[in-house]
Amino acid sequence: MLVSATEMLQKARAGKYAVGQFNINNLEWTKAILLTAQELNSPVILGVSEGAGKYMTGFETVAAMVKAMDKSLGITVPVALHLDHGSYDGCYKCIKAGFTSIMFDGSHFPIEENVAKTTELVNVAHQLGLSIEAEVGSIGGEEDGVVGAGECADPNECKQIADLGVDFLAAGIGNIHGVYPANWAGLSFETLEAVNNAVGEMPLVLHGGTGIPDDMITKAISLGVAKINVNTECQLSFQEATREYIEAGKDKQGKGFDPRKLLAPGFEAIKAKVKEKMELFGSVDKA
Ligand code: 13P
Repeated sequence: MLVSATEMLQKARAGKYAVGQFNINNLEWTKAILLTAQELNSPVILGVSEGAGKYMTGFETVAAMVKAMDKSLGITVPVALHLDHGSYDGCYKCIKAGFTSIMFDGSHFPIEENVAKTTELVNVAHQLGLSIEAEVGSIGGEEDGVVGAGECADPNECKQIADLGVDFLAAGIGNIHGVYPANWAGLSFETLEAVNNAVGEMPLVLHGGTGIPDDMITKAISLGVAKINVNTECQLSFQEATREYIEAGKDKQGKGFDPRKLLAPGFEAIKAKVKEKMELFGSVDKA
């Protein structure tokens, strides 16, 4: 059931668990995530970066695929189709394509410009019943060619953006996209606590979910995080399972080259990873 992410995240915040945002890349990803959410009776957010949208030939293709698959698989749990790290133009494209949620990432703009653009997009999104996420303090690492240094957000700026009426807020707390380097300092809970105190009941978003130790995830949820984004970990699971299949020569046995067979281990690996994360985040049976 396609819905905006507002209600599921308010419930998560109040119930002290988090909903996973799992980024999609193609049909296998989408199907694996939707089926796992349904099996676990968990709400879920399908994240689409601008790059992944382009790869899948555009946001309209993505929205059409997700809507049709949601229906044909008989998915009854709440599913939000969400633009991840959207540009100003990307937000409008997704609104037009029928997404149910957008993220406007104005974190690289001066705060005044982030405020102006976020205000406009909040109004448009809410008029149409979509939820909207904003970001303060860039998330480190690289995603779709955008490199951030992993700065910590200023709690006053978080309050300023939260007060514009966004539905959930991503605040940089030393998190980065991709695999964490060995010398990573860990999440800044001091920053998270200050942001949480500044923004009241606003559900907070933790980007860069890949590789964050379980105890840090649990602590972050206790401090107001209600949405956790995972992308790279699913990609690595898919890669490992696919590599194993090919290295075992299974693609050369019988009809093992059939893409439905070749991609099956990776598909199952994504399902297992999503299940593991939903259990860790506490969203099982919260649909
Ligand atoms: P990871 O790739 O590190 O899991 O980050 C995902 C993310 O934050 C998407 O916005």
